[in-house]
Amino acid sequence: MAARIIRGRILSFDDEPRLAGAGALKMIEDGAVLVEDGRIAAVGEVGAIRARAPRAAIDDHAGKLVMPGFIDTHIHYSQTRVIASYGAQLLEWLQKYTFVEEQKLRDRDHADIVARFFLDEMFRQGTTTAMVYCTVHPESVDVFFDESLKRGARMIAGKVMMDRNAPEGLTDDPQRGYDESKALIARWSGRGRLDYAVTPRFAITSTEAQLEASGALLRESPGAYMQTHLDENRAEIAFVKELFPWAKTYLEVYERYGLLGPRSVFGHCVHLEQSEVAALAASRSVAAFCPTSNLFLGSGLFDMKRLHDHEVRVSLATDVGGGTSYSMLQTANEAYKVLQMGGQSWPALQAFYQMTLGNSRALGLQDRIGAIREGLEADIIVLDSRATPAMAHRMESVEGDIAEELFILMMMGDDRAVQETYVAGRPVKSGLAK
Ligand code: GUN
Ligand code: ZN
Repeated sequence: MAARIIRGRILSFDDEPRLAGAGALKMIEDGAVLVEDGRIAAVGEVGAIRARAPRAAIDDHAGKLVMPGFIDTHIHYSQTRVIASYGAQLLEWLQKYTFVEEQKLRDRDHADIVARFFLDEMFRQGTTTAMVYCTVHPESVDVFFDESLKRGARMIAGKVMMDRNAPEGLTDDPQRGYDESKALIARWSGRGRLDYAVTPRFAITSTEAQLEASGALLRESPGAYMQTHLDENRAEIAFVKELFPWAKTYLEVYERYGLLGPRSVFGHCVHLEQSEVAALAASRSVAAFCPTSNLFLGSGLFDMKRLHDHEVRVSLATDVGGGTSYSMLQTANEAYKVLQMGGQSWPALQAFYQMTLGNSRALGLQDRIGAIREGLEADIIVLDSRATPAMAHRMESVEGDIAEELFILMMMGDDRAVQETYVAGRPVKSGLAK
């Protein structure tokens, strides 16, 4: 691929502002990124980068923020037509809307349409990597990975495993779930920029035999991730305790089958008992904060400070379609408000760190994505802090304070603020239909 220079105000983190202070943010006001063969070949002042690659084409975004692509650590691609379904909390919402829609992904052509829409939407929103739930149908995984591979995107996904408490059209059984997952791992894991996540949906929809099979898949597949849901909703937790009477906590169910670990991402974690916090920390598992979903489904308020205090690894995610926005900016907006409700602060620098390097660290991908640094993959976005009249108007009162500008972006910004998205150095937003 020909070399390309992306010019703008380069913004990237090399550490977590909460721990390392504001110095964790690295900015070059008139900077440029040199991209070669899908990777970042150099970063610096625009003059120096031009001198280094005089023949490279220049994408001139002077004045706009150039930063790493957003990373979404928990989202359901199968729920693009479930988002904004009225009036239910988790268990009713699953039965009434989600399980109805997910059955439609049995049809490969339909799944294909949905996967394409989903990836277009990710890029429109500036999200370049996501950790994705497909459905129980292996075809839903094939079409998702196939489309991601064609687009050169770094994606993590897996076939949902469910063998009870769901409609027949959405269930497998422990052996089939194992066999299908195994075949998908063999077909897709490590191909292009793709990784596999073993995906038992949650304790309610898996028998002990299926959770056992999930643990076996993880043990047998080095490099595989694990994703599931945990402690999202009070009625959910009560049901888990009925189904697994031997378990003192919800997390103990997953723990018994070997599902905790540094590559395990637990969605929600809203109602954690103290022993669960300790077990998440000890296993270096990740708790994915899904604020728009937790508000929309009336699930509860995530306690970021408690998890930070106990050194639990935390990530941020949309959880569409329980979540109500594909935008990581809008997700950060709602996260800020959830934390406000709990009397917690969340500075803009910490929020932008979380959406980029923080989430890449949560997925163990910090040596590949999440920063603008030489050698990393060139997943880059361009943000316009004046994208709407109201944003431009508000920006008039900012006197060069980057934290204030970023806070405005996360409160008022959405896909309109994403001027361009580059995936492995290729622009993928400007060509999309408006
Ligand atoms: N718990 C089990 N499945 C789901 C799902 O699809 N969405 C959410 N928000 N929670 C779940
Ligand atoms: Zn979810």
